[in-house]
Amino acid sequence: MTTSKQPVESAKPAWALQTTPHADALRLSVAPMMDWTDTHCRVFHRLLAPQARLYSEMVHANAVVLGDRARLLAMDPCEHPVALQLGGSEPALLAQAARIAADWGYDEVNLNCGCPSDRVQAGRFGACLMREPALVADSVAAMIAAVPEVPITVKCRLGVDDDHEWERFARFIDTVAQAGCRMFVVHARNAWLQGLSPKENREVPPLRYDWAYRLKRERPDLRVVVNGGIADADEATAHLDHVDGAMLGRAAYHTPYLLHELSVRWFGGVQRSRGDLLRAYRPYVESQLARGVFLKHITRHLLGLFSGQPGGRAFRQTLSEGAHKPGADWSLVERALSLTEREPVLHDHP
Ligand SMILES: Cc1cc2nc3c(=O)[nH]c(=O)nc-3n(C[C@H](O)[C@H](O)[C@H](O)COP(=O)(O)O)c2cc1C
Repeated sequence: MTTSKQPVESAKPAWALQTTPHADALRLSVAPMMDWTDTHCRVFHRLLAPQARLYSEMVHANAVVLGDRARLLAMDPCEHPVALQLGGSEPALLAQAARIAADWGYDEVNLNCGCPSDRVQAGRFGACLMREPALVADSVAAMIAAVPEVPITVKCRLGVDDDHEWERFARFIDTVAQAGCRMFVVHARNAWLQGLSPKENREVPPLRYDWAYRLKRERPDLRVVVNGGIADADEATAHLDHVDGAMLGRAAYHTPYLLHELSVRWFGGVQRSRGDLLRAYRPYVESQLARGVFLKHITRHLLGLFSGQPGGRAFRQTLSEGAHKPGADWSLVERALSLTEREPVLHDHP
């Protein structure tokens, strides 16, 4: 197999020297997840993992430019470092949206080149962009020109459908890197654009972490973050021998205490109990309730906190059943917590 050369160094444009603030935070990140990683979720994750890099749900560039920014870009100051993920493929529009995101305070703007849904394909963005490296490069270049001070990054797959040549993947990366992108989040499997739902596309195409590792090995100047199927702390830690970071999606959402475990293991600090962490969330929750936000919009992100722990099911059930009732407030969370706290909560995770 031929080894692709790294053309990045030789032709490095001025803006390719973009630094990556909070570089340390690249080690641990929480994936962009539509309908899940909204601002309430990210504030909760921030409490669990003070240094992790957090990603928003994908927002289409058009919506950022024309839509309700207060809702779409909502972000709490405690969330930093936080990235806005954009969908789209029109360079000028993406540039405008990236500028708005940076002005709004986001620390990074990430371009989605990995989503396989039909809607996204119809709009010619997401994973199908893996087959249009020149367009992605133009988009990235336009975004960097509009926002030189904030890293523009790309989240991609290994390829689409039956693209299984390393050279094709490497060509995509090199073309986009030459436009100035310094960091790639690699969801280490293909996207199958026909016949699989987005959910199946996160499970069926086989994972090939070795391509992410090889990318880092052969292009050490690039920051490479690996994503896909990382289920526990040991697995996440093993990836750090090969790449700059590990991005967790479903495992972080469904078992959020894993984020805290990883945070303590990788960045240090005192391990706190689930109950302590939850209580630290109270001021935020109460401030949101005072602004008219319904408890259910916040507590839905907490359901997995005691997953696998004594009382975990009762905790989840109490929140699920009570949070949508009129007037539901923090006392419901305390009630749910009281069903768990009789059990030891520390030192029960290796
Ligand atoms: C509910 C849900 C929504 C997602 N939405 C997005 C998204 O908006 N943008 C994106 O790049 N990936 C999205 N993904 C994919 C994740 O970012 C991630 O790449 C994928 O889940 C694999 O990582 P994991 O195995 O750690 O979950 C989504 C995944 C889930 C489960």
